[in-house]
Amino acid sequence: MTEHTTSGPDSTAGSAVETGDTAAAVLAGNPTHSNEDVRKTYREQAATMARLDPLNGLLTGRYRRRLFGTASGRVLDVACGVGTNERYLPEDCAYVGVDISPDMLAKARERLAGRRRAITLQKMDAHDLDCPDDSFDTVISSLSTCTFPDPLTALAEMGRVCRPDGRVLLLEHGRSSVGPIAQFQDWRADAHFRKHHCRWNQEPLEVIERSPLAAVDHSTAALGVLTAIEARPE
Ligand SMILES: C[S@@+](CC[C@H](N)C(=O)[O-])C[C@H]1O[C@@H](n2cnc3c(N)ncnc32)[C@H](O)[C@@H]1O
Repeated sequence: MTEHTTSGPDSTAGSAVETGDTAAAVLAGNPTHSNEDVRKTYREQAATMARLDPLNGLLTGRYRRRLFGTASGRVLDVACGVGTNERYLPEDCAYVGVDISPDMLAKARERLAGRRRAITLQKMDAHDLDCPDDSFDTVISSLSTCTFPDPLTALAEMGRVCRPDGRVLLLEHGRSSVGPIAQFQDWRADAHFRKHHCRWNQEPLEVIERSPLAAVDHSTAALGVLTAIEARPE
């Protein structure tokens, strides 16, 4: 497997980007980071994330099922983490999960071993997917655009590999619609980003609107923190 790097995000390792070309990659004023920052974060967190996956299922499982249960055909899960989304797909879908973190993929391999459907797991950079154009019926991704160093490039790649009549399904977290929670998120945003490389008060719909994807439906849940988005490649 090829290890891809992205010159823009990697060249801004650990810095807040506010001006220049890369500023378009994240919403104005939001910080960005490098792929290596991501790998390091998830090297430290992979075991915990795998252990806490049942709790993750309790908190987000019903939203994942509602959205990803509508997937069809050959499905690509971008930034698949420990493989959480696989169990919410219809039985007849083939599953390809990609992630940049070898540690998260190792946990996904352990957890998805023995499943009946066709499963492929590969190390891949969401900014530069090693997949042909139009090669998936459905592209899914969850809790990921907040973590990508360059979310707009990653979303463009999801659109490129999705068939023109296919769907891109995203479950993203962002700034709550409940004032005190949103204020808390804003207050802790820098500290949270430094620890997790996650822009937790990002507005998912604004990111999608600036991407080449066209949102055709969306809904919010969990006090406005979770947004489910159905999009089509433009
Ligand atoms: C918060 S976790 C979400 C994992 C999973 N999708 C879920 O819903 O639980 C974010 C994931 O994004 C992955 N990631 C971040 N940047 C990436 C990139 N450039 N390419 C592929 N995966 C990336 C991380 O390695 C991590 O597994």
